This record gives sequence, C-alpha cells and structure tokens, in this order.
Amino acid sequence: MTAQSQFRIRPAKAVRGGVTVPGDKSISHRALLLGGIAEGRTEIRGFLESEDCLATLRAMQALGVTIARPTNREVVVQGVGLDGLKEFQKPLDMGNAGTAMRLFTGLLAGQPFDSTLIGDSSLMKRPMERVATPLRQMGARIDTDSGRPPVRIHVAPRLRAIDYAMPVASAQVKSAIVLAGLYADGVTSVNEPAVTRDHTERMLRSFGASVEVSGRTVVLPGGQKLRGCALDVPGDFSSAAFFIVAACLAADGTFTIRNVGMNPTRTGLLDILRSMGAVIRVTNPRASGSEPIADLEIERADLRGIRVPPESVPLAIDEFPVLFIAAACADGETVVTGAEELRVKESDRIAVMAKGLETLGVAVEVLHDGMRIQGRPQLGAGKIDSRGDHRIAMAFAVASVRASDTLEITDVANVATSFPGFEATARAAGLDVTLVQNAA
Ligand code: S3P
Repeated sequence: MTAQSQFRIRPAKAVRGGVTVPGDKSISHRALLLGGIAEGRTEIRGFLESEDCLATLRAMQALGVTIARPTNREVVVQGVGLDGLKEFQKPLDMGNAGTAMRLFTGLLAGQPFDSTLIGDSSLMKRPMERVATPLRQMGARIDTDSGRPPVRIHVAPRLRAIDYAMPVASAQVKSAIVLAGLYADGVTSVNEPAVTRDHTERMLRSFGASVEVSGRTVVLPGGQKLRGCALDVPGDFSSAAFFIVAACLAADGTFTIRNVGMNPTRTGLLDILRSMGAVIRVTNPRASGSEPIADLEIERADLRGIRVPPESVPLAIDEFPVLFIAAACADGETVVTGAEELRVKESDRIAVMAKGLETLGVAVEVLHDGMRIQGRPQLGAGKIDSRGDHRIAMAFAVASVRASDTLEITDVANVATSFPGFEATARAAGLDVTLVQNAA
C-alpha cells in the first residue's frame, strides 16, 4: 500500500458470521527480542507478520541474530545469548513501531556497542525521555533530540539495577527497564502507577527467567540467562476489538471471533462495553502457553453512554479509537477522562478522532485527557483523514455500519503495521470496504 491509499466504504447493514484475527503485536515483538538474546532455538507460531513486527525482526537480524521463516506465521530464532548481539553500523529503523523503539532502547542500553534508533515521521515525533530517563539512572548513556528520536545509545560501563517508580502507566517503559535489568548488576524493580500489559513478565518466565510480581511491582535479578523455547502467539485482542464493536453495533445473529488473547491486562474494552449494555460471551477459555485465550460470541445490543472509569484506561489503551465509535452510536453521553496518553500514540488520537467524529455529525467536546461524546442513532458520512494512524483508519471503517452514506478514509497504508489483510477480513464479516490506491 502507498501513503496515498484509502478505504472507500459503503454503509453495511449488518455484520455476520465470524472472523479470526492475526497474531498479537505486543507478543510478537517480545518473542523476537527475547528469542534473540536467549540461548538456543526459539520457535514462534502465530507470529504477526505486520510492518511493525517486521521492523523488529529486521533489527534483530541486523544485530546478528539468525531468523528463519518456514512460513509467514512461523519464525525460528537462533538465539545468540545475552552477550551475543553484534554492532550494526547504521541506524536501526523501527518504522512506525513505538513498542520496537522503546523496547530496543532498553535492550541496547547495556550492550558493549553504540546504536542509533530512527523511525517514520510519526515515530520521530513520539516521546522517548520516558525510557531514556530511567535507563540513564541505571548508568546508560542515551541522547534524544529534545526528547524525540533519533535515540542514540552509547557504550556505557555495566548497568546497575534501580528501583523505579514510573510516572506514566506504560508497558513499553516497564519492559524497556526490565530488558535493561537483564544486563544490570543487582535486582531491578519497577513499580507502575496502574496495571499495564504484562506480556514481558509472562514471556520471561517461559524463557526460564525468574521474575517476581507483587502488586504493581516487577522484580528481576540481573544477569539471568534465557533458554530458547516454543511460543504460541494468540490472536490480537486489539485487532479483535474492531469486530467486537462492529458486532455490538450491527451483528445479525451471533458473531464469533476465535482464538483471541484474553490477558486481563488487555481486555478492559470488554468491561467498558458491557457496562454500556453490550452482550459478549467468553467461551472455551484455555491457556496458550503463558497467555490465556478464548473465543468471543457477540450479539447486537443497544448501547448506552457511560463515564468510562479512568482506572480502566491502561487496560484498553489501544481500543479508544473504536470505543469512541461505539460511544458515538450509543444512547446518551459517554465521557472519557484520564486518557492523556492517547495524545502521544501513532497520532494524537483525541484530536484526530474528534475531527473525524465531527465530520460524521457527532457532537464532541475535546478534553485535555479525553472526550465527551453525544451518541446519535445514525452517523453521517464523508471524508476522514486517519493521519496515517492504523487504529483510527480501522475504527472509522467500523463506523460504516451506522453511516448514512459512503465513507472515504484516507492515508490507510499503516493498517498493515498491525493488521495485514484487514480489508479482506472486514469484507468477510460484511463490511463493504474497498482499498483504493490513488496515484501519488
Ligand atoms: C504496548 C504498550 C502500549 C500500547 C502499544 C503496545 C506494548 O503502549 O499502546 O500499542 O506492546 O508494550 P504504552 O505502554 O506506552 O502505553
């Protein structure tokens, strides 16, 4: 897809049947990073072959890790051990992937060579001091450009463990410190102000590492060797979220999504939607390695507006674009607060969503840390600029189930950063979406 690609979507009357969604992005990144510094072979099944995860894969290869791809969704990593990464003389390009940039900053902070991390125009604007500050306290030598990338990591004496209380609830920051903690003398502890996704902690245990979690504090002794292992990547809850909301708004019969990751640090959207009146059943719950998975069955429901509890924000952080669409179709007002982190995602998701919703005739009030949305029975139509943000593009695709006429959603190439094949999956569910490539 080019930067000029757009979705043209005619209103769909209903979504039907079911879908499966591709592998989890957060887990796929972590499997490559940990597999690369483990000893021996790591087999990753269900890998998300998206642009973001491929950026991580290429960066690990650039750092000397041999990675084979028997099939698109299978990856075999020959780990080089904790001290086996090699210097790459050029900048490592993280593309659009904030997770890759933050986690690599942590991983590379303790290496005996210099590294530089760059990304695309969106990533080059995102805040990096949140990882650089604690890593410097560990003794790392890191420069940013007034807080933004490029991130330059210089050789430093051996890192030392810290006890760090994070000012922002961020799994990326937590994971970066934990990765650096593997290279530090002593026992690192990280306390988070609110619970965030815990995939790094769970996966480290699959690699044989000792990680203790008590309350909101993660504790990790440095210098631990990781042992290669076999990992199954569940379907990404954040990708399922688009179809969960589409089904709440327009399912004709029961809509099913199978093999979805159900880690409780990720599923806040289910609680929020249920308190809006959604009917969602979790069936066949089971374990997939260290991660819980299940199938979801969703019925159409009349949603009502609510005040979203601020403490649930980190548990649904990537789902707000599509939750705003649900709110726009609910009866009454929905209020989201405590979500200022949305302003520093792939786009300013408060501003960009508000603008798109206004195009569809929805009354919104933008708050510094959220939004008030007045729901309406039907949405309008028009042209929406996704600002290159994958989740904004997919959220407005879902809005088509209540739109009065065709939606044109521009700048959608980055949908491939998290959900390759989204249009085909959406069409299978009944959305009338066409990908249009405009001449640049
Ligand atoms: C992620 C953590 C979240 C999330 C991002 C993926 C991760 O970011 O928004 O899409 O894989 O750790 P923050 O931890 O910065 O909130």
